[in-house]
Amino acid sequence: MSTETIAVDALTIEDAAAELERLAKEIARNDELYHGEDRPAISDAEYDALQRRNDAIEARFPELIRQDSPSRRVGSAPSVTFAPVVHARPMLSLDNTFSQEDVQDFVASVYRFLGRLPDQSIAFTAEPKIDGLSMSIRYENGKLVNAATRGDGTTGENVTANIRTIKEVPNELPWGVPAVVEVRGEVYMAKSDFLALNKQMEAAGKQTYVNPRNTAAGSLRQLNANVTASRKLKFFAYAWGEISEPNDLPKTQFDMVQKFKEWGFPVNPLMKRLNSVADILAHYDEIGLKRPDLDYDIDGVVYKVDSLELQTRLGFRSRSPRWATAHKFPAEQAFTTVENIDIQVGRTGALTPVARLTPITVGGVVVTNATLHNADYIEGIGNSGERIRDVGHDIRIGDTVIVQRAGDVIPQVLDVVMEKRPADARPYEFPKTCPVCGSHAVREKNEKTGKLDSVTRCTGGFICTAQATEHLKHFVSRNAFDIEGLGSRQIDFFFDNEDRALQIRTAPDIFTLEKRQADSLTKLENIDGFGKVSVGKLYAAINERRTIALHRFIYALGIRHVGETTAKLLARSYGTYDAFEAAMKEAVPLSGDAWNDLNAIEGIGEIVARAIVEFYKEPRNIEVIGALLDELDDKRPLPAEQAVTSDSPVAGKTVVFTGSLEKFSRDEAKARAESLGAKVAGSVSKKTDIVVAGPGAGSKLDKARELGVQTMDEDEWLALIGG
Ligand code: IVH
Repeated sequence: MSTETIAVDALTIEDAAAELERLAKEIARNDELYHGEDRPAISDAEYDALQRRNDAIEARFPELIRQDSPSRRVGSAPSVTFAPVVHARPMLSLDNTFSQEDVQDFVASVYRFLGRLPDQSIAFTAEPKIDGLSMSIRYENGKLVNAATRGDGTTGENVTANIRTIKEVPNELPWGVPAVVEVRGEVYMAKSDFLALNKQMEAAGKQTYVNPRNTAAGSLRQLNANVTASRKLKFFAYAWGEISEPNDLPKTQFDMVQKFKEWGFPVNPLMKRLNSVADILAHYDEIGLKRPDLDYDIDGVVYKVDSLELQTRLGFRSRSPRWATAHKFPAEQAFTTVENIDIQVGRTGALTPVARLTPITVGGVVVTNATLHNADYIEGIGNSGERIRDVGHDIRIGDTVIVQRAGDVIPQVLDVVMEKRPADARPYEFPKTCPVCGSHAVREKNEKTGKLDSVTRCTGGFICTAQATEHLKHFVSRNAFDIEGLGSRQIDFFFDNEDRALQIRTAPDIFTLEKRQADSLTKLENIDGFGKVSVGKLYAAINERRTIALHRFIYALGIRHVGETTAKLLARSYGTYDAFEAAMKEAVPLSGDAWNDLNAIEGIGEIVARAIVEFYKEPRNIEVIGALLDELDDKRPLPAEQAVTSDSPVAGKTVVFTGSLEKFSRDEAKARAESLGAKVAGSVSKKTDIVVAGPGAGSKLDKARELGVQTMDEDEWLALIGG
């Protein structure tokens, strides 16, 4: 099966790596077609779907995020025909939201980050998301000097001559504007102008254009500005880049846009300032209703925190601001039937049901599988025990279902068409045993909540070949041991082999293969698909990895919940493998210093900590690791480096915030501290350097005093980090 049809939940790490590679290429290609050549091959919804799938896979496997990940880029690289312009401030993208819940989450995250209570209302603006091209137009001393496309967000294309031909864009600003002003907004072509242009083209016997957006893009990227002038392009101002004297300007998003209007820019009349999620969503609905009658294409509604001061505090993530989001209009749905339900077994034994569908096109993409998540989902029960789908209908083989590829690319079975349920359709019986090894499959009880875990897990552990092979595939994957020539297919081959000289069942077997081969008569190089050269390369690749960084080693162990980021945290905190293993064994009682230290590592929560300790409780794991260590150079992974480069007074320090903070939320305080190179921990231990205590601080402050750790209040902390 090709990876692109596998639900994100069901991807193995190998699949995920392959899929991220495919998506990076696919998105880059479409970026180039869209931005570089103005001839997209897929719809915007499909493009969003690719991005969402990429994001969803990265969220599940953060360790697989690629250097060239689409999530690290914005748009395409600038094309060659126009001179490059480096933006004074980067032109960022917006996060997408697709549902009311997403919007609620967005608003809640803003309140949380700023440490606001729901009654300390934060105003938002809501305005249409124009489907055009973003543009940054620079004025110096009131004169238009430069206009650039977004490009890759950092460098765009100089299209000044063409922008000057747009009547709606002022060439001069009124007296008194700041010396430098960059106004940003969307260049678009009105639907009516697009239709008129196409009529003309048709009358002249020429090929018509596809849609207003691409026509606008094509018109803008004409080397001959006269052509641009003949196309009636328009503009909406909604943002800005560099401004030299911002102090004299309004302090809110809404008023800034009104200021642009005063300066002569067109601004969107549907922009509103609103104070609650309910109002925001009502405005979304209103804009949605107006959409067909607007003379320009829109693909959603953009929400922004109104206060510019709050925008600054919220700041940016790598690709987009924390203070804004785009609420996209819904994606397409289609009807099809569930032909079968398969179960996939993952590395940690999770049994994931997958619906095999009668192939159907949803928004131009063929969908054959949809994830069914878990047993509850099939039954019609949501994550919190609530009924999902209409009155909690279950999903059965033979059912006609509504499949949605929302921007969320994992195709979802939204609902069942009950009228079409075949008379003989029976409720799906979730297997009680692992379909691969036959061991019991159980739903563990969450010790904290007392509720059943939604995941059904195979209890076979080492005897389950699905788990074992998935473990090996993880072990050799790119961010783990990264052994070239040992892919998914080869692992299956070596695993299934009955001849010990050709067998790989555990990680150390990888390293003993060459030796076992030397002593054996059955030679790998004589086997189809291998050959002398590739076998030589395989051994070289394996031997090269006898030296390995500690974080890769820890990640490769495949401990549940330990992704690449966690592995790095562990490596950095413990320094050497021996120190790590010793501490994990010491932490087995789930109390005491070793346990507390583990939990004090910021980014490691109790669930992760428990999973690690559980892993080290299993003698078989220690045994396999022992054999693996014996195969490494110096019998150990390389020790981790202690990397702290920032020269701030708190760089490299471990800081704990406790009590209530009055000037910042925890998240904001943490983001600030981390940006200055500090590590922020959740609990106080010997390794803590500073405890910042607000009113109401209790046991953590006591513990800090007991351990002689430096303590300070919020103001002292602010003074230390420079306000
Ligand atoms: S605000 C830092 N407002 O959507 C955020 N963007 O997906 C600046 N867009 O690059 C963007 N209408 O091309 C904003 N009312 C609007 C918009 C809008 C369309 C485009 C813009 C941006 C993209 C982000």
